[in-house]
Amino acid sequence: MKANPHPDVVRFMVGLVDGVDVASAGEMRRALGCGADPAHMSFAGPGKRDEELLAAVAAGVLVNVESARELPVLRQATVASGRTARVALRLNPDFELKGSGMRMGGGAKPFGVDVAQAPALLREMVLPAAPGAAGLHFEGFHLYAGSQSLQADALLEAQRLSLEWAERLAQQTGQPVTHLNLGGGLGIPYFPGDRHLDLNALGQGMQALVQRAAHSLPQATLALELGRYLVGEAGLYVARVVDRKVSGGQVFLVTDGGLHHHLAASGNFGQVIRKNYPVTVLPADPAAPLGELETSTVVGPLCTPLDLLADRMRLPRAEVGDWVVVFQSGAYGATASPQAFLGHPPPVEILV
Ligand SMILES: Cc1ncc(COP(=O)(O)O)c(C=O)c1O
Repeated sequence: MKANPHPDVVRFMVGLVDGVDVASAGEMRRALGCGADPAHMSFAGPGKRDEELLAAVAAGVLVNVESARELPVLRQATVASGRTARVALRLNPDFELKGSGMRMGGGAKPFGVDVAQAPALLREMVLPAAPGAAGLHFEGFHLYAGSQSLQADALLEAQRLSLEWAERLAQQTGQPVTHLNLGGGLGIPYFPGDRHLDLNALGQGMQALVQRAAHSLPQATLALELGRYLVGEAGLYVARVVDRKVSGGQVFLVTDGGLHHHLAASGNFGQVIRKNYPVTVLPADPAAPLGELETSTVVGPLCTPLDLLADRMRLPRAEVGDWVVVFQSGAYGATASPQAFLGHPPPVEILV
């Protein structure tokens, strides 16, 4: 859901996926409004507020528990809503997804519960309800090691290690594991030299894992949560050139869009060393030919050097009124950008 929560996209995707993972009660309400089935929804994220946990329990959504603090709140929510809270333990794994753009596991992290703390929390989660108190319905585990990996072997290694942790911890619960969310992290190519993931290799490797899980955790449904992989390549971001100027011999195309619409393309959302997203230029007149190639820098209207959409790229020459198009923009676009900064108009998002 977090990759692209646009209602039209969510409605469309709900018919194609097996479930939806949400990161807030706001996303949860939207997903439910778009037809998602709460029986196949999970809610993950650090800092879930009490009222969000209550809303998730009342809706019948699985909560991925990330802190001991959540357990008493979930028990209270069970009493208040009359529905037993469905819970899984989100583990902060002791490994990282190699080659990942954004690491969400391994070492000190606010996500999930450290493996060293997991057994104690698990014991508490599966504790039978004390007289007059509410029990929780334990379903399994959630691990999320990282995002944006283009390496099938690294993804498989993370999934194998995740499964091993689930197997190890399952022995301590004394309860069947019916749900195992192995995370995701499948990346899409953004930058020169990036290659599409080798899905055949990933699929074959996963088949072996699925077979293994069928023996070790026979009641578990395995899940992957894919964000950008499902929607990222489908999106185009388009901005209009409002000025063309030269400084220090460098051509600047100033557009009416930028990091306030598309933080990720500006390089400020998970990139360590800034690289250009794939970008092109289209003439205002669709019948006009593309201009000669030249080196230009595309910026937005914000008074910060961070507002950069293309840094010294070879692009067709553009004039005022022409369009700048950024590919691979279907994930982490408008909702992942500081739209209110400097008071420029918001982007318009449409599903075509
Ligand atoms: C728990 C969880 N699931 C899924 C995702 C989706 O990641 P991506 O869109 O990079 O595949 C993220 C990304 O931060 C996440 O934290």
